[in-house]
Amino acid sequence: MNSRFAKHVALVTGGASGVGLEVVRLLHAQGARVAISDINVDAGMRLVAELGERAHFIHHDVSSEESWQTVISDVLKTFGELNVLVNNAGILLAGDIENGKVADLRKLLQVNTESVFIGCQQGILAMKEHGGSIINIASLASWMPMDKFRPTVPARLPWLP
Ligand SMILES: NC(=O)c1ccc[n+]([C@@H]2O[C@H](COP(=O)([O-])OP(=O)(O)OC[C@H]3O[C@@H](n4cnc5c(N)ncnc54)[C@H](O)[C@@H]3O)[C@@H](O)[C@H]2O)c1
Repeated sequence: MNSRFAKHVALVTGGASGVGLEVVRLLHAQGARVAISDINVDAGMRLVAELGERAHFIHHDVSSEESWQTVISDVLKTFGELNVLVNNAGILLAGDIENGKVADLRKLLQVNTESVFIGCQQGILAMKEHGGSIINIASLASWMPMDKFRPTVPARLPWLP
């Protein structure tokens, strides 16, 4: 096993599938203790069962500030510290302005934008004493208009760290 991250504790949001799952696998394979957070409990628990020790699943809706506080506390309780936060959870919204719904746009902004704001705040608090890294993952659709995913464009603000 490559032990590059043997001293690290990572939290990967939306880590139960897709890009997040691959990030989880990579960090875990390199020795990290990995907290996987996601709204998909079944997929998260399956992944933890597959990875075995050093993996921990936490149910988490990244758009909820309350949920973030619980998750960070859980990580600190389980692994003692937090060194790497990967803000990965995100959704796409397909469609156009003529047929779109404000409620869907709100949800998109909460999951893709507010979550990163709250995550960075909570992550900085947890890492302030010993340092760490926060990685924010975004789609190209957040800054480059893509025909099918126009409403996704404003969803990751460039000023976010
Ligand atoms: N797939 C791509 O080609 C691609 C390319 C560039 C960037 N990205 C970015 O990578 C990230 C992940 O995308 P993906 O393609 O793996 O998506 P995905 O849909 O495969 O996985 C997203 C994960 O996030 C979880 N999730 C959704 N809403 C959540 C919430 N409110 N709280 C917690 N977890 C939630 C889902 O359950 C799922 O496990 C996104 O930020 C996306 O913009 C993806």
